[in-house]
Amino acid sequence: WDNGLAKTPPMGWNSWNIFHENINETQIKQIADAMVSSGMKDAGYIYLNLDDNWMANPARDSNGFLISDPKRFPSGIKALADYVHAKGLKLGIYGDRGTMTCANVPQSGSKGYEDRDAKTFASWGIDYLKYDNCNIPNGSDMKTDYQKMQTALANCGRPIVFSICAWEYQNWMPATGNVWRTTRDIVDKWDATGHPYGFVGIINSIDQNSKYTNSAGPGAWNDPDMLEIGNGGCTTEEYRTQMSMWCMMASPLLAGNDIRNMTQATKDILMNREVIAVNQDPAGKQGYRVKSSNGNEVWVKPLADGTKAVALLNRNSSTSTIAVNWSDIGITGSAVVRDLWAKADKGTFNGSYSASVPSHGTVVLKISSGPVATPTPAQTPTPAPTPVP
Ligand code: GLA
Repeated sequence: WDNGLAKTPPMGWNSWNIFHENINETQIKQIADAMVSSGMKDAGYIYLNLDDNWMANPARDSNGFLISDPKRFPSGIKALADYVHAKGLKLGIYGDRGTMTCANVPQSGSKGYEDRDAKTFASWGIDYLKYDNCNIPNGSDMKTDYQKMQTALANCGRPIVFSICAWEYQNWMPATGNVWRTTRDIVDKWDATGHPYGFVGIINSIDQNSKYTNSAGPGAWNDPDMLEIGNGGCTTEEYRTQMSMWCMMASPLLAGNDIRNMTQATKDILMNREVIAVNQDPAGKQGYRVKSSNGNEVWVKPLADGTKAVALLNRNSSTSTIAVNWSDIGITGSAVVRDLWAKADKGTFNGSYSASVPSHGTVVLKISSGPVATPTPAQTPTPAPTPVP
């Protein structure tokens, strides 16, 4: 949606993956504090997004206006927004196109209340709306419902990023939202194939999200769901792959862990500036797979400055050596390679580069067509020695 927002993929934090329905004002304020003190804000994570269950039960007052839970959010959402804004962060909120959100709180859905709810959010100082897809009355049309909220947001008097959460791609979404989910919910696993609700692990999410590469661009991003980095269900290599591939795919980067206490490994993954720069590249191109063989993959993301970000992804259960050929990524001659996780310049290479990649790990490279090797200056040919008779 070209509303001037989300020119690069949104970055922030969301409450769902770690806290689920158990959210409250004190904890969210502590998260806001931690966004700043941990360095997350400086690394670019700006949105602090409340997910489901911030509302009262029932969710509306006697005049039909949405209200927050008086016990868990006693100061109200406007006060929370003021707190968050004072820290230089932005506040996101959660709603639903049906009659109730997925937590089934009575009256919590925005169906028929789109304008009023968008204006309420604007009056509180909300900056981001995730709009879910539960409890849909018969006869509702998904596209119509999302477009209604889009119009309501456009008219609410405040810039609000619109995140469509409808668990699969539809071709009207890029014109309707700033981000749209391409998958069902993520779980904190590498591979969730066979999940009863079709929920996805990291690798499943990558595969689904990669089908829609050409739909992404500034203001409009495919959303393979939020980050699980730091939540404990995957290995460090697997979390590094989530970060690497969300950056390669220009996906929203919404941390989903308890950032009040993060291990150094989690911080190193979430706050790697060079990898984040790949995600935030102004050209806004979603990276894509250029080679796949025996579980070893090469992905490329063309960057605004003409260089290429390249990911070497190992889906296998043991270490692989993976090569990127310049011909696969549109480079000729020699090129300079930097490894963005090792934070090391690897040198100048002709034709290809290969690296050892641990099981379920990803190496991310930045490859710049190097200066063509300096030709040796032309020399006066040495006269042939006079043959000795
Ligand atoms: C749906 C969404 C999740 C989360 C929950 C909250 O499942 O896809 O991301 O918002 O609802 O109930």
